[in-house]
Amino acid sequence: MRLTKVDPDAPQRELLKEAAELLRSGQLVAFPTETVYGLGAHALDEAAVRLIYEAKGRPSVNPLIVHVASPKAARELALEWTAAANALALAFWPGPLTLVVRKRGIIPDLVTAGGDTVGLRVPSHPVALALLEEAGVPVAAPSANLSTQVSPTTADHVMRGLGERVTLVVDGGPTSVGIESTVVDVTGAIPRVLRPGMISPESIKSVAGAVEIATQKELGESAKSPGMMGRHYAPRARVRLFNRDEIDAVLREARDATRQGKRVGAMVFVSLGAEGVREYIMMTNPAGYARLLYATFHQMDDARCDLVLVERPPSGAEWDAIRDRLERATR
Ligand code: TXA
Ligand code: MG
Repeated sequence: MRLTKVDPDAPQRELLKEAAELLRSGQLVAFPTETVYGLGAHALDEAAVRLIYEAKGRPSVNPLIVHVASPKAARELALEWTAAANALALAFWPGPLTLVVRKRGIIPDLVTAGGDTVGLRVPSHPVALALLEEAGVPVAAPSANLSTQVSPTTADHVMRGLGERVTLVVDGGPTSVGIESTVVDVTGAIPRVLRPGMISPESIKSVAGAVEIATQKELGESAKSPGMMGRHYAPRARVRLFNRDEIDAVLREARDATRQGKRVGAMVFVSLGAEGVREYIMMTNPAGYARLLYATFHQMDDARCDLVLVERPPSGAEWDAIRDRLERATR
């Protein structure tokens, strides 16, 4: 594995040319997007795509997102471009939005886990965009972590998680959004959110006129977005979510755990003031919280915490995507 450091805002084209060449020749290249780092492979090269599943230990029933440099390039991969797809692409691309559309035959079945739809995204990170332009081919890229582990928001997370499984890591600094893109199915008349993200259902509705949100039950039954099932986005520690009104019970739990020699971490808005607890004070705005959420999980893993106490974010739709990731981490 090699590492190339590039300027996050104005990436050096010569450095990206080599990364692009590796992608075109079927190798795995990890790169930053505005959400999380992706593990990229030439999306139209089935052997290259297979390397992604192997490197991540990812079940092949979980489809990959295909990244391209422009809405036009995305459209060329779609069998059908609905009014909703068009409106949302215009409003939010480049950006942290994945559109699920009916796929064209040139996309290998392995990318879409055998399904007839494909997730497409034009990322806004300057490094991702420049790399995709240089590559000139669609790039399939899941988050660059081992399956079920925490998504990487720095090149260091990628290297420590995947190591020699990846040929090159393009280091473009820490990512800014911090959690994965909003995944929206636009194959029907009304866009349907399959995975919440920082682009909210309200903003989708304001652009497309209407929005539906897939329930956990539906996702499970239809296996429409298998990445949405089970434990995901989780640190190795047991995660316990709590409200301020449970504080006495939480402090007791922390004390009992530390007495048993366990390592306890806490992600809170106001200090617990508990002895021996490794504490992170979280931001009170959703964008700031999301940006540091996974980095904090990674730090809890590094500190080998056994138990992480997480204060529930306030109610309100702007916290939905964060609440989703936190709930998943407790499973
Ligand atoms: O922000 C992101 O989306 C990052 C960066 C690298 O772009 N990628 C990412 O990929 O999070 P991954 O593979 O970790 O998650 C992809 C999600 C999964 O929940 C998967 O089930 C869903 O998108 N997905 C992909 N293709 C789909 C399809 N055709 N139909 C339904 N869901 C799909
Ligand atoms: Mg992932």
